[in-house]
Amino acid sequence: MDINSKLIKALHSRTDEYLSGTEIAVELGVSRTAVWKHIEQIRSVGYEIEAVPHLGYRLVKVPDKLLPDEIERGLKTSVIGKKILVYEKCSSTSDVAEEIARSGGKEGTVIFAEHQTNGRGRLGRQWISYKGKDILCSVILRPYMTPQNSSLITIIAAASVCEVLREFGILAGIKWPNDIVVKGRKIGGILTEINTEMDRINYVILGIGLNVNSSLKNLSSKVVKTATSMIHETENKVDRIETVRKLLKFMDHKYEELKRGKYSEIMRECIDFSETLGRVVKIRSGKKVYAGYAQDFDDSGALNLRKDDGAVEKVVSGELI
Ligand code: BTN
Repeated sequence: MDINSKLIKALHSRTDEYLSGTEIAVELGVSRTAVWKHIEQIRSVGYEIEAVPHLGYRLVKVPDKLLPDEIERGLKTSVIGKKILVYEKCSSTSDVAEEIARSGGKEGTVIFAEHQTNGRGRLGRQWISYKGKDILCSVILRPYMTPQNSSLITIIAAASVCEVLREFGILAGIKWPNDIVVKGRKIGGILTEINTEMDRINYVILGIGLNVNSSLKNLSSKVVKTATSMIHETENKVDRIETVRKLLKFMDHKYEELKRGKYSEIMRECIDFSETLGRVVKIRSGKKVYAGYAQDFDDSGALNLRKDDGAVEKVVSGELI
């Protein structure tokens, strides 16, 4: 842990009283002059620190930024979030994650960005977000499973986002296969990209986009009628750090379940959150269009569609039209 991280940790440990320069200096193993220098450094990142002569320093406010020190504080996950990287700006967190994974990056590494210049959605679409407002992240996973089961990865991410939203009082559901919706409006999306070797997954880049504090006013007229955000739903500014910590915690738990082969449990949750099951739907998958009653999911995450003639057809991926 570097000195600034240690200083942030010390300040967090006592926010209701002042920490003297001497106490901090001892804890950090530096001089009092160096303490002041580091206080200035963390202030420049956006931390509000009160300094009172003869009393010391007190943390008043943490910046609204996705800082690794803040995300990692109190985060008790076993895989996901073991390494956290934050970019002020990048093309796409999934591009960065792909590069890191290709050069051997560890499973559970999460890449966040405050701003993406080329955010990607499924089917070649753009993912639009506003600087410093939302959650944009990609997770590197190396699950020991066949590519046929990779929909389960999308499902655990989508279910985790829904769980987080429920903790904020937002009743979200999953529109098959990867949209997170609230009363029909999209609040988030999952982009699962897999790299395979023989018949095994080499790595998965799990991209998650969640509209947090972007107001609908910020959205383009194209999506304003079909999109929503947490701030819009709760009418309150949302703490992104808290949201991220919850997200990583839920994903870590579900990923553990997945690794233990608890496919049916995962599917049960997905069924609970599904906004698609029990409806008559039309799905475009490649050049084919499927139509029928969305009956259930199988344990690999494929959707079972019951057609008019009673036959059941499996649809592995696609888009509701
Ligand atoms: C979709 O609904 O089509 C999926 C959207 C996924 C967006 C996220 S934002 C973080 C990560 N980086 C990207 O470029 N895309 C994913």
